[in-house]
Parts: sequence; C-alpha cells; structure tokens
Amino acid sequence: MPMKKLDGPMLDYLTAIDGSRHLAVAASADDEPVGLARCVRLEDEPDTAEIAVTVLDDWQRRGVAPVLMTELARWAYAVAIRKFRALFGDDNRAIAKLIGAAGIPLVPDGNGMLRADIEVGAILKLAAPASA
Ligand SMILES: CC(C)(COP(=O)(O)OP(=O)(O)OC[C@H]1O[C@@H](n2cnc3c(N)ncnc32)[C@H](O)[C@@H]1OP(=O)(O)O)[C@@H](O)C(=O)NCCC(=O)NCCS
Repeated sequence: MPMKKLDGPMLDYLTAIDGSRHLAVAASADDEPVGLARCVRLEDEPDTAEIAVTVLDDWQRRGVAPVLMTELARWAYAVAIRKFRALFGDDNRAIAKLIGAAGIPLVPDGNGMLRADIEVGAILKLAAPASA
C-alpha cells in the first residue's frame, strides 16, 4: 500500500545509507541524476535485501536499470547480501517485464502486490564477460 506521508523514523530508515544495511547506487548524465537503485537488508533474513529501482521517465527503456542493478549487486555481494526482493504493484508492467524477462517468477504478495526474489549471484553472472 503506498504511503502518503513519511514520518521521522521512517524517513531516517529510508535515507540512512551505511554501506551494509542500506546500499545505494546512482546514475547521472551531464551531472544530472537519471536513476537510483537502493536496497535495505531485511532484519529477519539478513542475506536478503529489499530493492527499489527508479529511472527518470526520459531515461527509461535505455538499459539504465540493469546497469544500476548490476552495480548494486556488486556492492551487495561484498557485504553478504545474496538475494534482492522486489515488491511492486501488479499493474507495474515495466518492472514485471524487466524481471520476468530474466525468467524470475513473480509471486502474488497480497493487496495487489507482486514479489520477486532475484539471486544477486545471477545478476553478477549475467554481467560477467563471457569467457573465451
Ligand atoms: C522499472 C524501471 C526501473 C525500468 O528502468 P529502465 O531503465 O527503463 O529499464 P530498461 O531500459 O532495462 O527497460 C527494460 C524493459 O522495461 C520495460 N519498460 C521500461 N520502461 C517502461 C515504460 N515506461 N513503459 C513500459 N515499459 C517499460 C520495457 O519492457 C523495457 O524493455 P523494451 O524497451 O525492450 O520493451 C523504470 O521503468 C522505472 O523507474 N519505473 C518507475 C519506478 C518503478 O516502478 N520501479 C520498480 C519498483 S522496484
């Protein structure tokens, strides 16, 4: 369910990037931000982090999100995060297509939400240069 207002503790939780519990990677062009990917480690599943990716409208469909996710995956793997969990509305065709194209199952999570668990290692493997 979307939140209408962020209170102090929730705002801190979402913005306090510490390189272990909460990681973030940004993309920019001509010194202007064009996209952001971040993840927050789950307290009860510490090898899993909830991921959120946003790309500015004018920059969508140019492959920015996969680049951000790969970079985030590198940082996440280094601090023992092995799985990204994505939660999104079932009407979000863009992210459903992006994740679904990789063959990752989308599971109904109630209240019109879908959930996908993405192996961090699989993202890194996809990004690795093919060996000769
Ligand atoms: C989901 C999102 C991050 C994808 O970023 P992106 O950089 O455009 O991703 P890609 O360039 O890899 O596009 C991959 C596919 O996503 C789909 N897609 C991306 N943007 C889309 C849009 N605006 N409308 C419809 N489909 C879209 C397309 O299928 C696209 O592949 P195609 O162009 O070959 O058809 C971006 O659309 C976004 O920021 N959405 C708003 C925030 C959001 O919903 N985040 C997901 C919650 S975690």
